[in-house]
Order: sequence, then structure tokens, then C-alpha cells
Amino acid sequence: MKLTYSGLNVAVIGATGAVGAAFLSIAEERKFPIDTLKLLASARSEGRELRFRDQTITVHEVSEKELEGIDLVFCSASSEVSRTWGPWCRENQVMMIDDGSAFRMDDDVPLVVPEINSEDLAHHNWIVSIPNCTTTPLVMALDAMRQVNAISRVTATTYQAVSGTGAAAIGELQNQDISIASGDPTPRPEVYPVQIARNVLPHVDDFEEDGFTKEELKMRNETRKILHDYELRFASTCVRVPVLYGHSEVVHVEFENQVSIESLGQALNDYPGIIFDPDFSSYVTPLEAEGRDETFVSRLRSDPSVDNGVLFWCVTDNLRKGAATNALQIAEALLERQILNIS
Ligand SMILES: NC(=O)c1ccc[n+]([C@@H]2O[C@H](COP(=O)([O-])OP(=O)(O)OC[C@H]3O[C@@H](n4cnc5c(N)ncnc54)[C@H](OP(=O)(O)O)[C@@H]3O)[C@@H](O)[C@H]2O)c1
Repeated sequence: MKLTYSGLNVAVIGATGAVGAAFLSIAEERKFPIDTLKLLASARSEGRELRFRDQTITVHEVSEKELEGIDLVFCSASSEVSRTWGPWCRENQVMMIDDGSAFRMDDDVPLVVPEINSEDLAHHNWIVSIPNCTTTPLVMALDAMRQVNAISRVTATTYQAVSGTGAAAIGELQNQDISIASGDPTPRPEVYPVQIARNVLPHVDDFEEDGFTKEELKMRNETRKILHDYELRFASTCVRVPVLYGHSEVVHVEFENQVSIESLGQALNDYPGIIFDPDFSSYVTPLEAEGRDETFVSRLRSDPSVDNGVLFWCVTDNLRKGAATNALQIAEALLERQILNIS
């Protein structure tokens, strides 16, 4: 579809998904410069219609023909889809911003949160990855805090919304809530291994042999890569909660030396994209973070159980800064750095 603005020729693979929908509305909000826009998905979605700006755009199955003439591909589908179209983008020197985990740890793939490491974009090989939706808010808070003192150890527990699993999981929670309200207390799970409504699952993504889940390993490895701190001691437990939108985390950080809460608070306050609340008794919940692009940090306090440790609570909208907003900020950084150019 030819739009009336000058800009890039953009294709969204996964346009019908939860992140794809967020990408379209945020691209519109940010007035991201798009000249033509292709909305692509699987064969199941062929012919569906979606709105962008004031136009209706028909969705097509992704194919080489659909990607002809495209400058920028935003891919938010599955690892399998990324592994199919990533090499095609490389071969044809088309920039792909990939939302999935397929390439994140590859040496020639920048893994970027623009507030931290947009200089890594210079070393792209036509694919740039965005981090997992739990990693992004965490690394922003850690990057702010390490300006005060070097970080020696991090542990985190997450409370992740079902939208992190995608559109089907949003439907599953909503349907289970309706079933329970209609008198069926144990609705049958389909997306998750057990019922998610009125429940909490200490299980996000598949288990590895060491007992951690893939999500927990992604958090550790991605945090190290983005912060360029490959020795950082790190462990997390990822938990799925019956919340629709917004991932929350409780984070424990240990520093090399003594730090004051005031200096950490100041660093968080000064950090772009973070809203820090210094009031001990107030905090932001996922409901309040929904629809926002910031990472909210609160309940920062000293950890009396270790030397030089603190704890805090942190929340972000997983579909926005955890995914689509971060991807659009990367695209904007690629334009600013003239790695991508509007012809
Ligand atoms: N949700 C989050 O908070 C979040 C955050 C960060 C990263 N991510 C990553 O983003 C990706 C998408 O997540 P999501 O939450 O948006 O999932 P989703 O709601 O399930 O959407 C998946 C999208 O992928 C498309 N798709 C599936 N198979 C395809 C194929 N063979 N060819 C082309 N398109 C295909 C689907 O199209 P159809 O409608 O045609 O099936 C749909 O548009 C995943 O890699 C996920 O790990 C998600």
C-alpha cells in the first residue's frame, strides 16, 4: 500500500500478532517515516484487512515477491519465520529488525536497547535483534545504576503478562475468566500447560537440562551482551501471572562498593526512558504501565542481607518498550546514524 508520506518502504512480518498490532499503532503515534507498508503474516491471514493511519491495508502471506523493493523488515512472528527470512534479508541487503530470539546471541547481530548501546548498530550484518521483553526494562535500570558503581551480581524474579506469549494467550486468559465467572472453576488450558486464570506459573518457555527455563537463560545472556559485561553473575526465575499487559520484576543488585540509595535514585531519575518514584510507599502496577513507553522503577531500598545490595520493583509494557517501541527506536537510530537512508 502506497501511503502519502515520504519515507521507507517497510514490511511487517507478523502484522496480525500482538506485537505486530502494537508496532502499527506506535509507528503511527511516532510518525515513523513510511512510504509504502506491506502487512504480512501466514497463509491463515491472507486477505485480512488492518488499519494504518487512515487507510485499510490487506494482509498477505509473506513471500519474496511481497518483500521486493522493501528497505526495512520488522519481523515479529516465530524463530522459524525469522530463520527463513533473516538470511533472505542478508542476501538482499535489506535491513531486518527481528523481535524473536533466533539471532540475538549471534556475534554479527547487534542486540540493542537504544538508550544503552545504539553504537553497536554500526556492526550490523543486515539483522538487528531486540531483546526479550523482560530483559529490556532490566538492562535499562542496571545501566542507570552502574553509572554510580560497578555491578557484581543480579538476581531477578519476573511477573509476566500473558500478552508476552501472544494473541492466543490473551484470548486464553480472557476466556478462562469468563468460564470461571459462568460457573466452570477449572477451564481447560490450551496455550499454557495448566490454567492461568486465578493462578501463577513458575514457568516461561521450555525447561533446559540445568533446571532453568529458556526465558531465564535469555535474560542472563542478553543482559550480559547488551551491557558488554560477560562475567556478570546473574540468575532469574520467570513467572507467568494472570495479567493481560505489562511485565513486572523484582530485582536484587549487588555492587562492588557501598552505594547510597540517593545516588542510585538520582541516576535512575536522570536516565532517559525511566520514571523513578523515590517515595517508599508508592509504586506503579502493570495496569498503570499499560500503553506507556517508559520503564517504571520504584520501591528502591537497601538489601540488609548482603553487602552493598539493593532491591527494587520495575514494570514496563511488554508489547511497547518490551517489543515494538524498542524496535521503532532502533529504526529511528538506524536513520539518525545514516545506516538506513530514505531515498
Ligand atoms: N508478546 C510480547 O510481549 C513479545 C515481546 C518481545 C518479543 N516477542 C516476540 O515477538 C514474536 C511475536 O510475538 P507475538 O506476541 O506478537 O505473537 P502472536 O500474537 O502469536 O503473533 C504471531 C504472528 O506471527 C505470524 N506468523 C505465524 N506463523 C507465520 C508464518 N509461517 N509466516 C508468517 N507469519 C507467521 C502470525 O500470523 P497469523 O495471524 O497469520 O498466524 C502472527 O501475525 C515472537 O517471536 C515473540 O517471542 C513478543
